[in-house]
Amino acid sequence: MLRSHAPSSRAYSVVPTPRDTEEKQLLHRMLRVDHAGEYGANRIYAGQMSVLGRSRTGPLIQEMWDQEKKHLEKFNEILAENRVRPTALLPLWNIAGFLLGASTALLGKEGAMACTVAVEESISEHYNSQIRALMEKDPERYNELLKVIKEFRDDELDHHDTGLDNDAETLPGYWLLKNAIQLGCKAAIYASQRV
Ligand SMILES: [Fe+2]
Ligand SMILES: [Fe+2]
Repeated sequence: MLRSHAPSSRAYSVVPTPRDTEEKQLLHRMLRVDHAGEYGANRIYAGQMSVLGRSRTGPLIQEMWDQEKKHLEKFNEILAENRVRPTALLPLWNIAGFLLGASTALLGKEGAMACTVAVEESISEHYNSQIRALMEKDPERYNELLKVIKEFRDDELDHHDTGLDNDAETLPGYWLLKNAIQLGCKAAIYASQRV
């Protein structure tokens, strides 16, 4: 089953005030792409629910979506507190995410779960690479941010495993679909860091 995490009630920001423009750029890029990813994930689950919401898989998808809502809420908060501009591509991720979720869900529960495995693997790998980067820079300084990212990474891994536990791999063309979606995720991550 999915773990649920109590929302953090801290009043102060999890992000340190940047020392120079280099650190500001680094942090803003990271936060911008993380926010974009959580935004996209929300739209994917919304698309899945539009097709499978009334099916037996509905409650499970809803449970994952609810966690994505918390992730997005947290990044909305962090972006606002630190005056980080969100990516200009949100309108695109709004539509693309929903279409990806809905179209894979039209293939049935297995299609939705294959999409979930692909996306959540990409997101958790992305979070892992951020964790490595922040640890190399200064684990003390980024301690609070690291906690948030690690917690979300664990949730994404849970979602990934939920997809596998719910027959994602039985979808005909699973590997092809998974690779195609992950290429899309890579492109989305690349673009959202820059635009
Ligand atoms: Fe998430
Ligand atoms: Fe997730």
